[in-house]
Amino acid sequence: MKSLQNKNILLGVTGGIAAYKSAEIVRSLKKMNADVRVVMTKSSHEFVTPLTLQALSANPISSDLLDINAEAAMSHIELARWADALLIAPCTAETISRLASGRGDDLLTTITLAFDGPIAIAPAMNQAMWRDSRTQDNVSKLVANNTLICGPGTGEQACGDVGIGRMLEPEEVLNIFSSLFKSGKLISKKVVVTAGPTQEPIDPVRYLTNRSSGKMGYALANAALEAGAEVVLISGPTDLNAPEHLHFVSVRTAKEMHEAVQHHLNSTDIFIGSAAVSDYKPSKEYKNKIKKDKGKKSISFELEENIDILKGVSSQTKRPFVVGFAAETQDVIKNAREKLGSKNLDLIIANDVSKTDIGFDSEENEVTLITPRDDYFISKNSKKAISKKIIDFISEVI
Ligand code: PMT
Repeated sequence: MKSLQNKNILLGVTGGIAAYKSAEIVRSLKKMNADVRVVMTKSSHEFVTPLTLQALSANPISSDLLDINAEAAMSHIELARWADALLIAPCTAETISRLASGRGDDLLTTITLAFDGPIAIAPAMNQAMWRDSRTQDNVSKLVANNTLICGPGTGEQACGDVGIGRMLEPEEVLNIFSSLFKSGKLISKKVVVTAGPTQEPIDPVRYLTNRSSGKMGYALANAALEAGAEVVLISGPTDLNAPEHLHFVSVRTAKEMHEAVQHHLNSTDIFIGSAAVSDYKPSKEYKNKIKKDKGKKSISFELEENIDILKGVSSQTKRPFVVGFAAETQDVIKNAREKLGSKNLDLIIANDVSKTDIGFDSEENEVTLITPRDDYFISKNSKKAISKKIIDFISEVI
């Protein structure tokens, strides 16, 4: 269940006797290094205390649609944006019915409407209620809506009945739930991603760099990993931890990044250049620290053009599918389209970096995917969600 590592999991708990199992689900998710937030329906408070789930998740519990502590008092939107996936466990017959009819009259149901990521439920109810044709119709509606149904299990029930309807054990639920993160769309493909900034030294203590945090590139590498690819992540200096289960290469300059890319290019299927590579570097690297000269009001450096890493990939005769980014502050789409042609790319991702809430060093992004034939706009979302869409797009077109 490694695929749940570092994921933001929203756990919905509804009012049934199996609600006690939600505590074990939170504990297991935390052990897997997932970040967990819990949304409880009012009736679930009768079965498990918010304090228990708050202590285990190390996050405040949400129950109210209008939350004075949430940004703009709308916790459903904040939580829907935050989550990578939503699991409702246990999920009662009543909640299944309300989800199937698209209700939005409490926090949990409004989140399911506002959330565009994957949703799973672990049904828990009496065997006769589960078999009832109305429940089955509701479950079919959810399946048609891409909801993953984990269970239910068979056996003795709290009411004494025997049959199908009890909630699966937490480990069984999480096993099924974790499959949401394995799309398998890039199985047996090798993907090389560049991320972060480059640093071009001026002297031993100074360098030329930019504001790239690496978040976009690391998110793309993770999304490719989740799609089943073998991933090489070549990163300039960032504050991020190297993701697990991929080949991580740390570099500093554009020259080092170029060499690492060339070294790992063999049998690569997809190359994604999301790094913010310095277009120019100081022509000369001073051996010693440049001293302040009191007599001089200004000093100047000569810069020379850096090697173009993307062109080095797209000019190969046996080349992979080559994806570039275009970080632009004006005429974003026009300039990106020009780069698509001049760098001979299969796809370019236009990124408006004139704003502070998207692009460089932000949690979110908004991009347009441009191919020689089409444009495809991806509206503002977390870099994780955007990356998943980019990887899905690439897997469709390669
Ligand atoms: O790292 P974050 O804080 O998450 O921010 C993400 C991002 C804004 C850095 C990212 O989304 C992005 O836009 N990356 C590209 C930045 C960039 O250098 O853009 P550019 O338009 O200058 O370059 C065009 C393309 O050529 C890029 O794919 C770049 O990697 C590549 N390039 C540029 C120069 C060079 N010498 N070699 C290259 O390969």
